[in-house]
Amino acid sequence: MGKMDFGIIGLGVMGRSLAKNIAGKGFSLSVYNRMTEAEKEVVPNFLKNIHNKTVQGYTEMEGFVLSLSQPRKILLMVNAGSPVDAVIAQLKPLLAQGDIIIDGGNSHYKDTQRRATFLKEVGLHFIGCGISGGEQGALSGPSMMAGGAMAAYAHIEPVLKGIAAKDNQENPCVNLLGSDGCGHFVKTIHNGIEYAEMQLLAECYALLAPTYSYEKIASIFEDWNTGPLASYLLEITAQIMTKKEGDSYLLDKVLDQAGSKGTGSWSSQAAFQLGVPASMINAAVTARYISALKEQRVKWSGKTVVPVEADAIDIDLLKDAYTFARILNHYQGFEIIKAASKENQWNVNFSEIARIWTKGCIIQSQFMESLVTRFRDTDDLLNDTALFSELQKNEKAARSIIKHSLNLRIPIPCISNSLQSWMSLTTERSSAHLIQAQRDEFGAHTYKRIDKPFDQTFTSNWTHNG
Ligand code: 6PG
Repeated sequence: MGKMDFGIIGLGVMGRSLAKNIAGKGFSLSVYNRMTEAEKEVVPNFLKNIHNKTVQGYTEMEGFVLSLSQPRKILLMVNAGSPVDAVIAQLKPLLAQGDIIIDGGNSHYKDTQRRATFLKEVGLHFIGCGISGGEQGALSGPSMMAGGAMAAYAHIEPVLKGIAAKDNQENPCVNLLGSDGCGHFVKTIHNGIEYAEMQLLAECYALLAPTYSYEKIASIFEDWNTGPLASYLLEITAQIMTKKEGDSYLLDKVLDQAGSKGTGSWSSQAAFQLGVPASMINAAVTARYISALKEQRVKWSGKTVVPVEADAIDIDLLKDAYTFARILNHYQGFEIIKAASKENQWNVNFSEIARIWTKGCIIQSQFMESLVTRFRDTDDLLNDTALFSELQKNEKAARSIIKHSLNLRIPIPCISNSLQSWMSLTTERSSAHLIQAQRDEFGAHTYKRIDKPFDQTFTSNWTHNG
């Protein structure tokens, strides 16, 4: 057999599924998985199940590398962090000038930039490629966000386009979005938006649960899913509601401690570092951390007996509040990308990012489809007059849902935060002049005056009038 088109290192769930997808699209493929006691059956099992003559399996790196046609195109599907560095260190001496390593994991974009820089020095290309869609997406068509050099991307584009999900116009949901680190950064913010979208649904559920059964909540979510609120996350949430184990609902058995692998907090860290208000993602990340404090929550809940009202939730108001919060979540998420794009000179195209996120990924939704067009006219969603009017229209609903949550003592940090952030963004004179005065009072940090040109700064002695 001749040399193979493409290589994959790491046959975990995602690596296996992508390998099947690639082989199924007619590309010849070599796969490698390390030979440890626990993983010794991984490669033979994979080959047994794939029934494809154009797939070769390896447990030693040299044979794997030699089996590939040049420039070699090798996708790493290993855990983010030090395992990526370890595999690169193993690969590097075996590769030739112009070969391309693609990292398909959820790597931190700064790691990707570092790796790209040192590999460039030895003539190797490195593409950081965010891959979304979980196991099913990887198998049947993921959404992919690549970052790196066009010269290298051009070599891998046919494979990526071949396996990607297709948008409504049948275009593949993949592209090179910018230079080094851009793909992984955009994937990180995808996950940040995902965190807040999941939290919003959890909050809607929490508000509905005191009044309605799982079956009824599922039917409410199914109903929402027939209109502009339709999304993959809403669809699976409706399904989850009615999943039974014997006579009981499985959801009742799940421990209420949410895990997280890092990309949500990386989104918040990036937003803080860039000075962008991403308060809804922050609220969603924080909500997961608070959920993890199960022992404390159990202990303190018994000591906080506060009378609550028992009114039923207004489903239409909740729907409008959810609509409101989702718009602001997407607005905030894209604002982080905008700031990072400016700082890193990625020059990203927001409409194209939204298009890539219309299919295959976790945050695919009808709203995302509308963003493809909206972002053709503006890169600031609050400049979109229709969206702005929708926020204005739904503000009242958000306020009454938040009041309801307070009356019933149901924490809804993400919905609450959407209203806080909207009110702050639409308040002409904020209270920040007091912050400036405080800063100047205790530290002479200076302030600007509204009655003087803004290029001038002032400091005052705040303890004496004069
Ligand atoms: C995707 C997902 C995926 C992510 C999980 C888990 O786009 O397919 O974002 O990449 O790993 O959602 O993330 P947490 O464990 O942090 O919730």
